[in-house]
Amino acid sequence: MLVLHAMSETKNQQVTVLGAGTMGHGIAQVCAQAGYRVVMRDINDAAIARGMEGVGTSLDRIVQKGKMDAATRAAVLSSIRTTTDLVDAVKDADVVIEAIPERMELKLETFRVLDASTKADALLGTNTSSLSISDIGSAVRDPSRVIGLHFFNPVPVMELVEIVRGEKTSNATVERSRGFATSLGKKSILVRDVPGFATSRLGVALGAEAIRMLEDGVASAPDIDLAMELGYRHPMGPLKLTDFVGLDVRLAILEHLTREIGPQFTPPELLRKMVAEGKLGRKSGEGFYKY
Ligand code: CAA
Repeated sequence: MLVLHAMSETKNQQVTVLGAGTMGHGIAQVCAQAGYRVVMRDINDAAIARGMEGVGTSLDRIVQKGKMDAATRAAVLSSIRTTTDLVDAVKDADVVIEAIPERMELKLETFRVLDASTKADALLGTNTSSLSISDIGSAVRDPSRVIGLHFFNPVPVMELVEIVRGEKTSNATVERSRGFATSLGKKSILVRDVPGFATSRLGVALGAEAIRMLEDGVASAPDIDLAMELGYRHPMGPLKLTDFVGLDVRLAILEHLTREIGPQFTPPELLRKMVAEGKLGRKSGEGFYKY
């Protein structure tokens, strides 16, 4: 894992991350580690406090591994400014990365503010894992600067940024995004704006089949997971991973892909039932496993 990258190129640039949740605070952290001035915005102080606590815990792990010293940890933390004021957060940004909940009307509302309040040349990225970049881009007058910048959890560890090109995204925005991902020490792939892109479409297909196998009594949850962990060297089996990502998140993606692509993505009944019961995975204390 790279810890500090290309400091001199990035230290004068501001990255604003909208949302301090699991993805938002992870993205803010890697941007701060890369030397950017970071602003992290959420709607209330409690969400911001949880996000900053998440950054602190993750940095502690890196320090404990001997991959960062205490002074750098403090410098990374102090380079993240937090605010609840959206306009204040974005007005000086060179790059904005939106990581708010996956609801289109919320994204459109936010991008309308970005249209009115950002510098004309600011890059406008969205961390959506399956919504259309072109639809999100329709909220701004210049959609050539809107692009998908899809990160993976845990952001400080996962090496990929999936770059998703909307219908009107310019080549310059794609190139800038590739450079940005490299500056964070990440590798990028370029994907067309199709439902679920590359990663969510493949990821939920495997996850949904694993849940159907559990419903059918093919094997126990730990054995289904071991099948992929030992048989295919996946770092986490598909049910553990569904717990990690959140059952509600995966259900929402499957419902979206069923509408947009077809019935092969119909969510398993067991998944619907567990979400209705509040079994959302790690974050709720129970999913396919107890935490
Ligand atoms: N911050 C910093 N470092 C972290 C960390 C965090 N939050 N989480 C783990 N690490 C580090 C550990 O300290 C450890 O470091 P070393 O290699 O230096 O020892 C390393 O990562 C591995 O961690 P662990 O030893 O604790 O445990 P592990 O080997 O089981 O790995 C894992 C944990 C990285 C989460 C691994 O299980 C994994 O890669 N799982 C799959 C994750 C995945 O598929 N994510 C994508 C989800 S889909 C998504 O995010 C997109 C979407 O749209 C929903």
